[in-house]
Amino acid sequence: MSIASKILDFFTRKSKVVEGGGEKAIQKQQAMGKMTARERIESLLDPDSFQEMDLFVEHNCTDFNMDKKQLNADGVVTGTGTIYGGFPVAIYAQDFTVAGGSLGLAHARKITKLMDHAVKFGMPIIGINDSGGARIQEGVNSLAGYGEIFYRNTRASGVVPQISVILGPCAGGAVYSPALTDFTFVVDKISKMFITGPEVIKSVLGEEISMEDLGGARVHTEVTGNAHFFAESEIECFEQIKKLLSYIPWNNRKTADAIKPREPKITYDITKVIPSDPRKPYDVRNVIKSISDDSDFFEIQDGWAKNVVIGFARFDGATVGIVANQPMHLAGVLDVDSSDKAARFIRYCNAFNIPLLTLVDLPGYLPGADQEHAGVIRHGAKILYAYSEATVPKVTLILRKAYGGGYIAMCSRHLGADFVYAWPTAEIAVMGSEGAANIIFRREIMASSDPEKTRQEKIKEYTDKFSNPYVAASAGHVDAVINPEDTRKSIIHALMVSKNKEEVTVKRKHGIAPF
Ligand code: HXC
Repeated sequence: MSIASKILDFFTRKSKVVEGGGEKAIQKQQAMGKMTARERIESLLDPDSFQEMDLFVEHNCTDFNMDKKQLNADGVVTGTGTIYGGFPVAIYAQDFTVAGGSLGLAHARKITKLMDHAVKFGMPIIGINDSGGARIQEGVNSLAGYGEIFYRNTRASGVVPQISVILGPCAGGAVYSPALTDFTFVVDKISKMFITGPEVIKSVLGEEISMEDLGGARVHTEVTGNAHFFAESEIECFEQIKKLLSYIPWNNRKTADAIKPREPKITYDITKVIPSDPRKPYDVRNVIKSISDDSDFFEIQDGWAKNVVIGFARFDGATVGIVANQPMHLAGVLDVDSSDKAARFIRYCNAFNIPLLTLVDLPGYLPGADQEHAGVIRHGAKILYAYSEATVPKVTLILRKAYGGGYIAMCSRHLGADFVYAWPTAEIAVMGSEGAANIIFRREIMASSDPEKTRQEKIKEYTDKFSNPYVAASAGHVDAVINPEDTRKSIIHALMVSKNKEEVTVKRKHGIAPF
């Protein structure tokens, strides 16, 4: 064969493989409002940056007439490229048009090879999931493939960012790869994620449920907390991924790229965010926007466990991870879900060298048998563990209430905060004045000729004593009481001086986190 014929042969082979599952299957994909695997990669990455690997990989399954089936690229497109103007990434996209994107051993090994590259080269890995799960014809070999992916997801955790995008079904054990990764993106009406599908549920439990109600995008962003970002369309989802990548470093040896600093927008006035009545709620995101660069706040998991707010912002151009109680929801209490949400984010920031800013305003942990029985002790411990373990710079600002266990848990000095600031509105106490007075002055109140008057006097006595930041400041638990207008300046200063923080920890294999 001449060189020209060999090159022609190469193009013929290549064009056949890139057809995926063929015209009919592609039309079905498009009719569902879904892009093809290759369109997704092209839309997400920088133009012309994608270099495909393993295009010609084939399965070697011979059962169930599989030897007669050519599965183009074995149902998954893998390779490397750049995103967001030059950020290198490893990416794979399952091709539902080829055998339903089902995962056989060759398909899995294309993914694991890419994951190994990502870890070796220190770049994020993005996995686009659109698959009917384990390739049924391959039996245990497909299960082996999943196992090899899960193993690498775990080993890569905290080394390179791992991003899962659910753009179709992600069924059965397949869900555990996204669950092991750092961030999961879902799209309305397109993403479906569940362990057992509606048919199994019907046959085993006799219950009817639609795929959407079982594991649709809203379910995972509002009910289960399995997904971190919800989008209306695939294009919107890709914009969210790019934005996320702009805040985080490529790997755990780097810090996130800083950008040009900007002042907060004047529309956010820090002096007006907190209501004068301490019992009134407010939106803590307005505090964040009144102090962050350009009033920007990239919120994560905004639809789930809303009593705590997490996300990225920038101060003086550099990324900061923010954890804040949200007085607008359940008065900002910590409970099972909000503890899980905050703890995982704290560990992410710590693994990837992102300083933590904690904004405190909470009455404590949520009381009640429901929470106790749901394991609030075990889940609540995660946040204590995550903060105590974190060695990145930790800055805490107490805005208003910091009561009881909540005070300790929200990155108090006692869990290793490097800087603890409090506004003059801060109330740092074991519990709210009313509850405290009812307990410690119970006898005096009962013995009084006017119990209600005495109760009010005792509440005032306790309020005067503890509903301020000065007792904590006099003990050195708070480093400085600051004027709210100086908040941004103080935070930027704290982050600047703690930039080269180093903490020596006792040698150990790893701790036993309460999860
Ligand atoms: C082999 C599969 C497949 C699979 C789909 N296909 N899933 N082939 N193994 N798991 C094939 C179909 O046979 C069909 O091939 C093509 O993909 C498109 O599938 P359709 O059913 O026509 O598509 P749709 O109607 O959109 O339904 C999508 C679906 C459904 C809901 C995902 O295909 C489905 O229920 N699939 C099986 C899901 C499942 O139970 N997976 C195994 C889970 S167990 P043709 O040739 O007709 O076009 C598991 C264990 C992993 O994953 C454990 C790891 C720890």
